[in-house]
Amino acid sequence: MRRRFVAGNWKLNLGPAQAAALAEALRTGLADRGDVDVAVFPTALSIAAVLPILQGSGIEVGVQDIHSADAGAFTGANSPAIAREAGCTRTLIGHSERRQIFGETDASVNKKVRAALAAGLLPIVCIGETLAERDAGQAEAVVHRQVAAALEGLTADQIPGLTLAYEPVWAIGTGRTATPEQAQDVHASIRGWLRAHYPSFVADETRIQYGGSVNAKNASQLLSCPDIDGALVGGASLKLDDFRAIVVA
Ligand code: PGA
Repeated sequence: MRRRFVAGNWKLNLGPAQAAALAEALRTGLADRGDVDVAVFPTALSIAAVLPILQGSGIEVGVQDIHSADAGAFTGANSPAIAREAGCTRTLIGHSERRQIFGETDASVNKKVRAALAAGLLPIVCIGETLAERDAGQAEAVVHRQVAAALEGLTADQIPGLTLAYEPVWAIGTGRTATPEQAQDVHASIRGWLRAHYPSFVADETRIQYGGSVNAKNASQLLSCPDIDGALVGGASLKLDDFRAIVVA
């Protein structure tokens, strides 16, 4: 009952010309993708080049980060309302690179989630433990804490519109993917946490993507796990063939 959802996080790659070229390739290359939701997250300055190309294709475009305010004296920030006005439908929030490099906290993630929903942007909220946390046996406790904080103050009805992306920090950009068993265990645990805290439709309907070195080779095994509803793809989303293979999987 949960539609699969594959998203490409282009990170700080592809200026307007390259981003437009990839968008053109995706528009035709993914035309036959069937029953899968697809979104791409270009760097902010390339969004304007990508949007007109993907308009009408069903492939959604989002921003990689937003600020929690729509307007004001916030130099360098991305406004949720302006992103929506520009044509974005989604935003990433709390990616581990934002948490680790830019000092994002559980509290700021929550503020951004609320701001995104208020502006009509659907968030993909990224969560995941570090290697030290996993080795200390804290993986589930960490992701439960991150989910609880991200969802604080939301009504049950708001939650299925957002997507959770479980991305173990040790698997991002490292080529070291979680095994399907490791990923499925955490996904099931997150869904169990949702089931314990909200009416059951929230756990049934909320999509949980896996992310961290997903590629054309490992995607089908990961995506065949019952609680993995899609993928958030970094490196492999920069090439049509790799990304297409993941969407097809
Ligand atoms: P990766 O990145 O696929 O390159 O590991 C995933 C992500 O950071 O979203």
